[in-house]
Amino acid sequence: MAKKRIGILTSGGDCPGLNATIRGVAKACFETFGNDKVQIIGIQNGYYGLINNIAREMDSSEFSGILTRGGTILGTKRQPFKMISNIGEDNVDKVKQMKNTYKDLKLDCLLTLGGNGTHKTANLLSMEGLNVIGLPKTIDNDIYGTEVTFGFHTAVDIATDVIDRLHTTAASHSRILMVEIMGNKAGWLTLFAGIAGGADAIIIPEIPYDEDKICEAMQKRAENGHSFSIVAVAEGAYSKEEAKLKKKERARLRQEAGITTMTSSIAAKIQRETGIETRVCVPGHMLRGGSPSAYDRILATQFGVRAAQLISDGRYGYSVAMVNGKISQNPLEEVAGKTKFVDPEGNYVVTAKDIGISFGD
Ligand code: F6P
Repeated sequence: MAKKRIGILTSGGDCPGLNATIRGVAKACFETFGNDKVQIIGIQNGYYGLINNIAREMDSSEFSGILTRGGTILGTKRQPFKMISNIGEDNVDKVKQMKNTYKDLKLDCLLTLGGNGTHKTANLLSMEGLNVIGLPKTIDNDIYGTEVTFGFHTAVDIATDVIDRLHTTAASHSRILMVEIMGNKAGWLTLFAGIAGGADAIIIPEIPYDEDKICEAMQKRAENGHSFSIVAVAEGAYSKEEAKLKKKERARLRQEAGITTMTSSIAAKIQRETGIETRVCVPGHMLRGGSPSAYDRILATQFGVRAAQLISDGRYGYSVAMVNGKISQNPLEEVAGKTKFVDPEGNYVVTAKDIGISFGD
């Protein structure tokens, strides 16, 4: 019997747990089909590699020793869905090329490890007749239909550590320390790290803020005898005034003002209004670096095993997921193009508010 040929790629922003997932898939496939009955084909740099046929047959030894390694051994690249699905100035039909590569590599199926953009393209390829399975990766935890994505909890741990460290320096200097946390559309990472790190205010895109309310919360803390405060701000946060604008208009105005995120201007306002020295810390890509946490290693392994089961059952067109605490899968078409947002009335926000954390609303 011919070897089962499984293509695998990692696409979009990297995160801890990609290698653990690659390893989980490979090991589970070797167990399920037999070492000599399966060939994993690593596609380099995400969909770019699929478009340009940059791929290699991987040796089983490549899947050992990578459980703890950050980043992705396959490399990754951002390939916006619009650029892939439309024929642009380069006149290249990228969908056709991806289908050709799939055929040339004689793939039985393709595993795509990535976030929202990756899932959109995965769904497109699935609708084009390829056997595709998605695996949900992102520190943003914003993939629809899954309670959790791999990479998220490691980033929560890192961001929490940042907030812990900011506490001691904020206390020493009697300052307000603002930490800007990744999360362009959704505030999950800021919310979780903010609660875990004991932030005094949490500002997320799902709850547009009022600068005066944030200042009031800082002032109140000072009046209650606290010499310092910590504010966790999601990079995608926007004000109540901005919330009235269309996304494009918001982006245009920010561009004109020469700003991408609002953290520094909130900080300046707080300092002006309260008289308390206010500093900003942006951990940025550090949140995506390094070794995955124990939680993410387990999740990545479980997701990998489920992908192998789906291949074994010949079930394609799904994204592996955590649903009601169980490893499961959702149809790609139900996931693609949607975002999982924080519920402003949900349990986590309510818990935070119940202990007095301000959301600036
Ligand atoms: O998509 C994940 C994410 O971490 C976002 O939170 C952030 O806006 C983005 O990646 C930044 O990615 P990069 O600068 O690597 O393109």
